[in-house]
Amino acid sequence: MNPLKMDFSDLIKIAKKNGTPTYVYYEDRIRENYREFYSAFNKRYKRVKVLYAYKANSNLAICHILREEGSGADVVSKGELKTALNVGVPSEDIIFTNNCKTEEELQSALEAGILINIDSLDELQLLGRISNKKKKKAKISFRINPGVDPKTHSKVATGLRESKFGIHIENGLAFNAYRLAGEMQSMEILGIHMHIGSQITEVSPFVDGVEKLMEFVLRLKNELGIELKFVDIGGGLGIPYQEERIATPEDLANAIIPVIKKWNKRLSYEPELWLEPGRYLVGNSGILLCRVQSVKETPYKKFVNVDAGFNILLRPAMYNAYHRIRVLGKENENSTERYDIAGNICESGDILARDRELPKIIAGDILAILDTGAYGFSMSSRYNSRPLPAEVLIRSDGSVELIREREGFEDLFLHQRVPEDLKR
Ligand code: LLP
Repeated sequence: MNPLKMDFSDLIKIAKKNGTPTYVYYEDRIRENYREFYSAFNKRYKRVKVLYAYKANSNLAICHILREEGSGADVVSKGELKTALNVGVPSEDIIFTNNCKTEEELQSALEAGILINIDSLDELQLLGRISNKKKKKAKISFRINPGVDPKTHSKVATGLRESKFGIHIENGLAFNAYRLAGEMQSMEILGIHMHIGSQITEVSPFVDGVEKLMEFVLRLKNELGIELKFVDIGGGLGIPYQEERIATPEDLANAIIPVIKKWNKRLSYEPELWLEPGRYLVGNSGILLCRVQSVKETPYKKFVNVDAGFNILLRPAMYNAYHRIRVLGKENENSTERYDIAGNICESGDILARDRELPKIIAGDILAILDTGAYGFSMSSRYNSRPLPAEVLIRSDGSVELIREREGFEDLFLHQRVPEDLKR
């Protein structure tokens, strides 16, 4: 179901019943997104695996839906690893990527038998020591920094040469890492990985990255005799936040599969293709509901004050991100006014939307902030001592289920300890 074409009266009911702020997700939309994404690649290349990037939205219900669809998991912490295991993702479908894994995290990953995606030589050595001690072989890949510009917001551009992520192909660094790992008894080298950035809207950066990656995969075969089980090109495909035309999974698959096939001929084997979409699978499935508390006219602007702020939806403040807004129940009103939608956090940067033409808003109206299924709740915090919001799922049959209770104020104090003398 397209959240823009749905019946907004359902959302008003949900806001009334569950309170605000509340995130609402559409199960159907998540399933459709997964199927569209998977089939775009699978119809062109048989050996495809999709591993949902849990960081986009790690609510258990959502991870269950994607597991049911057949998705694996891209995890970045022990918490996300536990989430994937809890949801029942098989260990061979879990990859653990980040630039800084602790000894505890590496141990857990090794015990779980998942794929560990290594980001530095120090990490390789540490994992070597752990796996020798545990007498268990580690399944590994390396994250490569291909040095390509993903042409996206600087805060989410990870494939640039200057970025902290990955081992550079330049200066023989990545080659050396594979050579070293190949000499270690405790390492089973299974793949190679890149993730060049997020909210990427065109295919050319992916094509450039894949060319570099595959050229390197050929070198591994020719010079080190290493054959890989998989090539993982990460996530990063964007979604249209303003109904603009941007690259789709079809466009991406169309552009990169021929490149992979071209290199496969020279490789004379066919690695599996792994992909790690996050935003594409869940972004447009989610809506944040908030309630207007007051409308304030200043000599310069009209502010709509809502009961959600950048603690609940960080993207506008962090990346200057644009999210469409609907005033529920006023979809058909023609006369509009220009508003800034102000969050309730005590910082002037807490503006959820700027200069929007919207139907006349009054206190008590409910606003829907669209396309907030990815990096919405998952980036939320309790800043300003505000409990985390509720999450609700609209099931495929239209029923509505609470999938996360709203926190209470007691949650704010849960893990805090006050020294005895201060209590007096
Ligand atoms: N794989 C790796 C290794 C990643 O680091 C990420 C996202 C993904 C996959 C999924 O990327 P996606 O398909 O969702 O673009 N908070 C930012 C986005 C940060 C993305 C971090 N890494 C935002 O709200 O735009």
